Amino acid sequence: MTECKIGSVVLRSPALLAPMAGVSDRVYRELCMDMGAGYCVSEMVSSKALSFHSKKSEELMEISSRERPCGIQIFGDEPSCMADAARHAMENHPDIIDINMGCPAPKISGNGSGSALMRHPQLCGEIVRAVVAVSDVPVTVKIRKGWDDESVNAVEIAKICEHAGASAITIHGRTRMQFYHPPVDYEIIRQVRHSVSIPVIANGDIDSAQKAKEVMERTDCDMVMIGRASMGNPWLFMQIKSYLEHPGQPLSYPTLEEKLGVMVAHVAKMVEYKGEYIAMKQARKLVIGYFKGMRGAAALRNEAGRLSSMDDLYKLKSRVLRG
Ligand SMILES: Cc1cc2nc3c(=O)[nH]c(=O)nc-3n(C[C@H](O)[C@H](O)[C@H](O)COP(=O)(O)O)c2cc1C
Repeated sequence: MTECKIGSVVLRSPALLAPMAGVSDRVYRELCMDMGAGYCVSEMVSSKALSFHSKKSEELMEISSRERPCGIQIFGDEPSCMADAARHAMENHPDIIDINMGCPAPKISGNGSGSALMRHPQLCGEIVRAVVAVSDVPVTVKIRKGWDDESVNAVEIAKICEHAGASAITIHGRTRMQFYHPPVDYEIIRQVRHSVSIPVIANGDIDSAQKAKEVMERTDCDMVMIGRASMGNPWLFMQIKSYLEHPGQPLSYPTLEEKLGVMVAHVAKMVEYKGEYIAMKQARKLVIGYFKGMRGAAALRNEAGRLSSMDDLYKLKSRVLRG
């Protein structure tokens, strides 16, 4: 396997954890890094909120030693505000600063940030240039295929970002208008890969070691980024690494006990950091992920959706183990 690098930052594996607001907090990132992810990124942080010294945004940027290398992702639509945010982020010593040009959520793109930036190619270049000028770590950009099917411009944006000093591009092969559902266009990812000379990271619907390898071969990308499929299945990162290094060897899967043990430890850590009320609300969708594919998953999903304490979770775990 070739060495994976972004600028001067060496990554331990080509399987990277995607930023996911409300999911990939510090506990989640530590878990995925323990399970073999090559790199992780913070949840997106608002450059505007940082300019008001929002405590919540400051907390989103905290990085522990167990999750290195780790990037901080910022979003916004004003070059000078984004540069200030990058300066601010540097105080937490990230390994990389990542710029969000892909978020489709109306409350982000409706304000001209995230994926809406792709409608203004010149502004994309100005933002990257401004952030690169103040960052002493590599700056990367996460984009989509384009805004909609009539304005597919990922190749143009990738070239502009490279020219402005970006060290890598991650591309999610859907337009903003497609949000998360229609099939991913891996051909556009391949085109972006062949239009720039910085590393390109393929993203979208990678949910198995075999799929990761297939996407890497199809797009010629050296790295893949995994979001939703890691929820409840952080073992995916070590499976991908192992499959890429030794495709002939059988993959290792966790036992039910291991799976539920990691699930409980994961949620307990969240409770430690955030308190039970907030943690349990956020943990519901993660717990559902751990139950995916199990016998009686629909009923378990229902119960997981109502969890409100660690005690509920312990009881649920015991019931699942009893079968
Ligand atoms: C709950 C959720 C939150 C997300 N938050 C972010 C974010 O903060 N920044 C970002 O660039 N992308 C964000 N994304 C997009 C993912 O990083 C990724 O591009 C997308 O989920 C496609 O990859 P996947 O099919 O592996 O999940 C989010 C996705 C989800 C599902």
